[in-house]
Amino acid sequence: AVKNLKNKNIVFIGFMGVGKGTIARALIQRTKQMGLDTDDLIESMENRKIKDIFASDGEAYFRRLEKQTAKWLEKSVKNAIISTGGGFFKVDNLEKIGTIIYLRSSFDGILKRLKAHENGDLKLAKRPLLQDEEKARALFKERSCLYEKKADVIVDVEDRSIEEIIHAIMKRL
Ligand code: S3P
Repeated sequence: AVKNLKNKNIVFIGFMGVGKGTIARALIQRTKQMGLDTDDLIESMENRKIKDIFASDGEAYFRRLEKQTAKWLEKSVKNAIISTGGGFFKVDNLEKIGTIIYLRSSFDGILKRLKAHENGDLKLAKRPLLQDEEKARALFKERSCLYEKKADVIVDVEDRSIEEIIHAIMKRL
């Protein structure tokens, strides 16, 4: 079991496709804690898919939904393992939600992972901001050091198995 959680949530941040959902699910299985995903929360709140929210109402609207979700998490959720969308880390109360774990990889590592795990498909339909590889690479560059600044714990995930990553996380909680 995870020790010293002090009722705190665990919040995974990191770029699209780095494996936040996969690692969160593995940790949930291990610790039997409650799991939540901010993209899923937003989709159920809006009763439509992220890509439809972006297409009909634009990114700024989506970012407002993320802020609303962040406030709710801070106020109402304890002892949960929370995976987030790649841009969620910008909400202003992030550190009040829980212990922030940044899953870090290079951009090429992420592309490699997506190509291997998702039959080369990158789940582009699901990820409006990953449609254009060069734009996504620029966004990655822009965000990399911001993720690091927000993190309580940085875990390198590139070329590591889920088991190794979970082990590294448990050691540092
Ligand atoms: C986004 C990442 C997506 C989703 C939305 C915006 C981003 O989540 O929240 O498309 O700004 O990086 P994933 O990181 O789960 O793909």
